[in-house]
Amino acid sequence: MDYVRVERENGVAVMTIDRQEKLNALDRQVVEEIGQSLLELEAEEPRAIVVTGAGERAFIAGADIRAMSVMDPIEAKRFSEIGHAAMALLDKGPVPTIAAVNGFALGGGCEVALACDVRIAAQNATFGFPEVGLGILPGMGGTQRLPRLIGPVLAKELIFTGRRIGADEARELGLVNRVVGQGEALSAAKELAAEISANGPLAVRHAKAAASRALDVDLVSGLEYEADQFALLFASEDAREGMTAFGERRKPKFEGR
Ligand code: COA
Repeated sequence: MDYVRVERENGVAVMTIDRQEKLNALDRQVVEEIGQSLLELEAEEPRAIVVTGAGERAFIAGADIRAMSVMDPIEAKRFSEIGHAAMALLDKGPVPTIAAVNGFALGGGCEVALACDVRIAAQNATFGFPEVGLGILPGMGGTQRLPRLIGPVLAKELIFTGRRIGADEARELGLVNRVVGQGEALSAAKELAAEISANGPLAVRHAKAAASRALDVDLVSGLEYEADQFALLFASEDAREGMTAFGERRKPKFEGR
């Protein structure tokens, strides 16, 4: 891997997009490396995955505009599909994903953040969809995930104007979970990952699977799925352990089985 680095700490994986000379912009290779790394991580079953950008200035400053400027429609479709596949691993994969947004999260960078389950923004983070200003549109899930996240009215305004917003406004719109000081996004994301890691790993995975369906299916189907996931966990040792530990007034010891 040239542009994606994965470090493991206490069962949590930290994935860093590192192409600092281009503010971590995403060309096809970077997107493929993100997808490949996420696939490899799925097999390792970390308790959470934190995604961040290298350096002080950018999370990801978007898809690589120079690379896109020479694409034909077939290449553009492929680029978009590869992006969709990588983003799906973030939001539909089994492991909770946390974006530590440490600077510019524009276009494709904003789309990577949107695909994560949780977003923590540093005070200097900047969000926006500049695509229409380039004569294109968000092609890595932005037109679909942003309306689902903040509603179509606000999403359309951001996508049609390309306006950049700061961390506090992003928080007000419900685009990020919380805002922390400059330089603190990664440590805050790791703290959140540690909080998640204290819980039953199977429970968290199945809870993610259920919650991830909420916006994709009708309520009746979603509730049926929830009941199935709920029932499935009763076959796990972790559920016995968790509920027994409560009765015995001790901390549960989860084995992920
Ligand atoms: N694609 C390709 N290269 C990019 C890039 C992108 N999305 N974003 C930044 N870069 C490159 C710049 O071209 C520059 O490379 P160079 O030194 O070889 O010319 C380098 O990263 C540093 O960026 P620069 O523009 O000099 O930094 P800045 O502080 O003046 O501006 C931004 C920062 C983020 C405001 C500006 O880089 C920008 O607007 N980037 C594009 C954002 C965008 O439209 N993203 C959506 C694409 S769909």
